[in-house]
Amino acid sequence: MTGQGLQDFLRDYEVAHPDDVRTVDREVSLDQDITAVVWELADRGEHPLLRFPCVKGADREVVTNLFASRARIERMLGAHPGELHNRYQHLAAGAMEMAELDGGPVTGRVDAGDRIDLFDLPLLTHFATDLGPYITSGIVVAEDATGGRGNLSYHRSVVASATSLGTSLHSRGDLWRLLQDAAASGRRLPVAMVIGAHPLFMLAASARAPFDVDEREIAGGLLGEPLEVVRTPRHGLRVPASSEVVLEGEIDPAADEDEGPFGEFSGYSSDRSTRNRIDVCTVMQRKGAVWVDVVGGNSHEHLNLGRVPREAEMIAKLKDRFPSVVGVHYPNSGTHFHCYVAVDERRVGEARQALLGLLGWDPYLKTVVAVDADVDITSDEAVLWALATHFQPARDMMVIDGLPGSALDPSADKLGTTSRLALDATRGPDFDAQRIQISEAARAVGREIAADRAGDLDG
Ligand SMILES: Cc1cc2nc3c(=O)[nH]c(=O)nc-3n(C[C@H](O)[C@H](O)[C@H](O)COP(=O)(O)O)c2cc1C
Repeated sequence: MTGQGLQDFLRDYEVAHPDDVRTVDREVSLDQDITAVVWELADRGEHPLLRFPCVKGADREVVTNLFASRARIERMLGAHPGELHNRYQHLAAGAMEMAELDGGPVTGRVDAGDRIDLFDLPLLTHFATDLGPYITSGIVVAEDATGGRGNLSYHRSVVASATSLGTSLHSRGDLWRLLQDAAASGRRLPVAMVIGAHPLFMLAASARAPFDVDEREIAGGLLGEPLEVVRTPRHGLRVPASSEVVLEGEIDPAADEDEGPFGEFSGYSSDRSTRNRIDVCTVMQRKGAVWVDVVGGNSHEHLNLGRVPREAEMIAKLKDRFPSVVGVHYPNSGTHFHCYVAVDERRVGEARQALLGLLGWDPYLKTVVAVDADVDITSDEAVLWALATHFQPARDMMVIDGLPGSALDPSADKLGTTSRLALDATRGPDFDAQRIQISEAARAVGREIAADRAGDLDG
């Protein structure tokens, strides 16, 4: 590792993988052009890291699509292909304490009071249906009342005034809990929003870690060295020393701010929001900062960033308790709501146990499907085939109602209360159909002819 900054990562990655980075030299607008480029490339099956040095109205380069490819996330973690989840779990388990520095790149420029104008920041409008330009990569750092344990979580934010943001805490995770604690003791909650940092810090921030686990220490585990931090001037919150931009401020639990609609991971525009306000008192920036955006909607980037730590955690938990579990996959088609689990069932009912475990542990999941280990869970088509041929609705389906789920599921009520469905598409002990087969000799002929297109013509 040659540095803990995003720009260190970009420099090294571009040298090592030039084909996986695309710099768009043409001038583009802040208004939807960048989302459109990401969508068009994705339609062609391309998910490069994207750099936009010429964005009209932006005083700096915009970098996006960092997490759009699972192969790129593997490389960030130094994982062999196919070893993404094991590697993440292994590194995250090596969480380490932060190293506090007196200063760092992000203290290069510090503005407070009248010198702050958040409208100067180059926010992107992602979708025509959005309220307006949004910060999508903002990671909120907060600490408990003793100033000890910290929490990291992403919160979409819109600029409401020169010194305030409207934001949403709809996932009601640890930041929500810290805010409720602050409200109960009549305090405003100090926060710092990190916009742009090393991708491994960004990955750690999306983990739904237990309340007493500080994701900044997980970031150290992923980086393989303590995360270097500096304290924010007013509240002394510890933020990465190599951040691009940090906004320091407070959330007043009693204050309300208009926020949303915004294009969400469901693929729908959502105005479901807790409508919180962050009052900003300090802006810290490194000299020559770039602007990091996370593509919104049900983009590969948004979905991968949210689910890689979750998949890794679920696989570890399931395998620990249910050794027959072989793998877990959250398909893009299901946004954050579907999961496929492959099971090598040794005792009847083990697949169902794993399904119930998933539904209990992951609050976003709505439909989970179990298949046998020979079915490719990374393929929707293979899983749907297993469902078509192994599954009997009256026998193999479990529905549980009235559970807390995602408020962003447009089919659920506004709080996200949902029912959940488990589908056991494993063959089970009484299944006696014979899979079709082709002899090895015929396959060899087939391979030869397929490899040599002239073979078709020669007959
Ligand atoms: C790209 C991205 C954007 C997110 N945006 C929001 C958001 O706007 N509001 C929110 O409440 N949660 C959002 N989340 C989910 C939280 O970050 C996530 O639930 C949080 O990390 C939970 O961790 P915690 O319980 O440790 O706080 C987002 C997640 C990702 C990956």
